[in-house]
Amino acid sequence: MGNLNLHLASKAKKDEFYTQLPDIEREINHYKEHLKGKVIFCNCDDPELSNFWKYFHLNFEKLGIKKLISTHFVYEDIFKQGETYKLEYEGGNDNDIMVGVKTILIENGDFRSKECVEILKKSDIVITNPPFSLFREYVEQLVEYKRKFVIIGNVNSITYKEIFKLIKENKIWLGVSIHSGDREFKVPKDYPLKAAGYRIDNEGNHYIRVKGVRWFTNLDYKERHENLILYKKYNKKDYPKYDNYKAINVDVTKEIPMDYDGVMGVPITFLDKYNPQQFEIIGIDRYVEDNPNYGHRFKLNNKETYARLLIKKKEK
Ligand SMILES: C[S@@+](CC[C@H](N)C(=O)[O-])C[C@H]1O[C@@H](n2cnc3c(N)ncnc32)[C@H](O)[C@@H]1O
Repeated sequence: MGNLNLHLASKAKKDEFYTQLPDIEREINHYKEHLKGKVIFCNCDDPELSNFWKYFHLNFEKLGIKKLISTHFVYEDIFKQGETYKLEYEGGNDNDIMVGVKTILIENGDFRSKECVEILKKSDIVITNPPFSLFREYVEQLVEYKRKFVIIGNVNSITYKEIFKLIKENKIWLGVSIHSGDREFKVPKDYPLKAAGYRIDNEGNHYIRVKGVRWFTNLDYKERHENLILYKKYNKKDYPKYDNYKAINVDVTKEIPMDYDGVMGVPITFLDKYNPQQFEIIGIDRYVEDNPNYGHRFKLNNKETYARLLIKKKEK
């Protein structure tokens, strides 16, 4: 392998981490009514490895799904791994998770490939953990084809220009079940990053802990319409104005002042508590993931704050 290929291989391997069943269950539980009679497509999921496939196969009848489809990617030009396939399941034996109709794919199973886009067009809801390195493109494709989705991403992708725009326009939002901390994912034994949160269980399976994980979705759920209960009152000392922008700074989401009607800068994790009936999102002070020099980059006493969302209370 040449240098470039080695680099690509190691970069690609970093995308190889697998979502655990309880994390999937905790989130999907909130969307049961959306799944009935629907075609579900997991397009980054090798049925032999993916707990998304496993979860929907095992619960196929119970959830009343119409059809489950998975496709997965092979790094054919790097690892020369050969062919990939589509697996489709329409019921019959929920317990044997390899039961399904297998069709060999002509292309490499890339979610952007023609074959996979054709499947996407015929599916109702896409549910998976896509490669973090292609998150922006991945979401753009779902939006382009107007699909419903529940996917895993990183909280920092809120600061991608394109993702932020969708959030601001209320076209996508964060999911229900992950709002803090980190989550454990299973990784192949030769996973390149031996980070602090690395764990090997009794059976020799390897895991990593990933920070900032969030679900992203455009399926509605009731919790996101509940008001955040506010208890603090506005005062100039606790909520200073930025040096370089006409808005007050709020360091902690739950301390948003209940009696302030102007524009406020809040941490991006405000979105974990965001009810679109209570607040409106006006902007962001920087696109961290795109261009670190973009935007206002709010300052207090000449010191830059962390990234801030600009919000305003909605009029009653
Ligand atoms: C974060 S992993 C998650 C795997 C699986 N969805 C899960 O949650 O267990 C992302 C997966 O996307 C796959 N992948 C990478 N590039 C892809 C592409 N262009 N099209 C489809 N899948 C891709 C990787 O092989 C990897 O298995």
